[in-house]
Amino acid sequence: MIALRQAEASDADVIARLHAASWREHYRGMLADAYLDGDLVAERLAHWQARLTEAGDGVFAVLALDGERSIGFACALADSDKRWGVLLDNVHVAFGEQRRGVGKRLVRSVTAWAREHHPEDGMYVWVIEANAPARAFYERLEATVVECAVVAAPDGGSMAVCRYVWSDIDALHRATAPPPAQTEQAPPAKASWCAQ
Ligand SMILES: CC(C)(COP(=O)(O)OP(=O)(O)OC[C@H]1O[C@@H](n2cnc3c(N)ncnc32)[C@H](O)[C@@H]1OP(=O)(O)O)[C@@H](O)C(=O)NCCC(=O)NCCS
Repeated sequence: MIALRQAEASDADVIARLHAASWREHYRGMLADAYLDGDLVAERLAHWQARLTEAGDGVFAVLALDGERSIGFACALADSDKRWGVLLDNVHVAFGEQRRGVGKRLVRSVTAWAREHHPEDGMYVWVIEANAPARAFYERLEATVVECAVVAAPDGGSMAVCRYVWSDIDALHRATAPPPAQTEQAPPAKASWCAQ
């Protein structure tokens, strides 16, 4: 069974491994091979140690676990943009665990935190323009693109990214609601196709 819990500083290592594996799996062709094949775990570890230990109350990170196994994470940073509010940075679900609703649950968890602590703010995420699956995911969650830009990439190059926003955090809360519980289907009353 999949469970979510808030991540702590001691989770920096597991998050760094998930993050590096996800970039290697999904960002090939978007970031330089030399960067992806280098010491990415150590680089991500330094990033997550800093973020989870130094950032204080303005950061919320959440882990998804299947039993003991970590299978995804998401993170949000408060007050990141005067206009657009909370930055969703990032959402990653392990390859092989995708399309099971984990990403949606992670975003819902971040949304719950944002609604509690920053109810007046919207939320936004930067997505690499070429990352079509992630864009489809955010569009499914009713985010809107407001701009695209070329920015510095973590590999030292540059990349085209698009800003997806939710102006209303309550709308995102609704968009991430779990589907209504499946009701048990009554057996068909004499289906015409088998009555012939
Ligand atoms: C994007 C990502 C986080 C989505 O996580 P996920 O757990 O697979 O997504 P969910 O199962 O919650 O999907 C919810 C809905 O989003 C849409 N969606 C998700 N992945 C999709 C894809 N690859 N293509 C099209 N639509 C997609 C679907 O409508 C899906 O609902 P459905 O499965 O019932 O059709 C995951 O694919 C991932 O980790 N990708 C690699 C890392 C990445 O690019 N992260 C985003 C960084 S900005």
